[in-house]
Amino acid sequence: MAATRSSYQADDRNLALELVRVTEAAAIAASRWTGRGQKNEADGAAVEAMRLAFDTVAIDGTVVIGEGEMDEAPMLYIGEKVGAGGPAMDIAVDPLEGTSLTAKNAPNALTVVALAERGNFLHAPDIYMDKMAVGPGLPDDVVDLDAPIGENLRSLARAGRREIDEIVLCTLDRDRHEELIAKTREAGARVMLISDGDVAGIIAACMPQSGVDIYAGSGGAPEGVLAAAALRCVGGLMQARLMFEDDEQLARAKAMHTGDPRRRLGLLDLARGDVLFSATGVTAGALLRGVQRSDDRAITHSIVMRSKSGTVRFIEGHHNFATKTWSPT
Ligand code: FBP
Repeated sequence: MAATRSSYQADDRNLALELVRVTEAAAIAASRWTGRGQKNEADGAAVEAMRLAFDTVAIDGTVVIGEGEMDEAPMLYIGEKVGAGGPAMDIAVDPLEGTSLTAKNAPNALTVVALAERGNFLHAPDIYMDKMAVGPGLPDDVVDLDAPIGENLRSLARAGRREIDEIVLCTLDRDRHEELIAKTREAGARVMLISDGDVAGIIAACMPQSGVDIYAGSGGAPEGVLAAAALRCVGGLMQARLMFEDDEQLARAKAMHTGDPRRRLGLLDLARGDVLFSATGVTAGALLRGVQRSDDRAITHSIVMRSKSGTVRFIEGHHNFATKTWSPT
């Protein structure tokens, strides 16, 4: 019995490092496109490199959060099987989180992968999701997605014994967030606006010394599941709700067996069980440095975490393309 348990743990640990290779490969490939104004090319390069890197990972993987449904995406589509064989796992990927950030060489573009045993990630269609997240060590009811933002900010300040003017709310800079931004400032808190990349924004709300205390606002549902996977590892609270623009979107969510698709979702509705998470920086950001390239070498910076142990590792990879049988460029 003990032997089985320890070999499972060893596999799990090795798998975490395998995942870093996957996000590193995607980041190196995408880094060729930083600042070139071609977001689709950057995304395509990341997808291709990530797909290839998965071939050597010892899992029987099924993509549940991916590049789109089968008829929309040539690779890493929802339902695609990846991996070299092994335990049955569900995979959530965003091969390039921040395609525009990469095209503009702006901060915080990441490549992201999360993994859990089968059935543990919310199967979310690529629609919008309303999200709210705060860091660890706070009461479970400190924020409520359905309460006015001013109330949430006051509650957060009280729980952390802080003045409300010290609280920083991070959100995407979008017209649809005009009221959220105005009400946050009206309540006396500060706003940090990001142009893209809410996975990094949500993780920031849960990392000490990031300067962000709460993330709120709507963004992609797949990104919501990936951020939840990260929070399962670093700690923190998250609430979310899928947002439907029409009946067709609602029907797609129902077909994915998400239960009542309009219900408020907690962290465990988004990502349950033992979760592994890896991200590599493409462009420099608050969480990770970007890829540093020369002709035949690249240096990458990644974060890899496991919910079971709560371990967070920052890994610097030095890659020498001359000694590899493949080149991510
Ligand atoms: P892409 O990398 O697919 O461009 O997504 C970037 C992103 O900013 C996500 O982080 C976020 O969830 C979503 O787009 C927000 O969507 P929109 O740009 O439509 O507001």
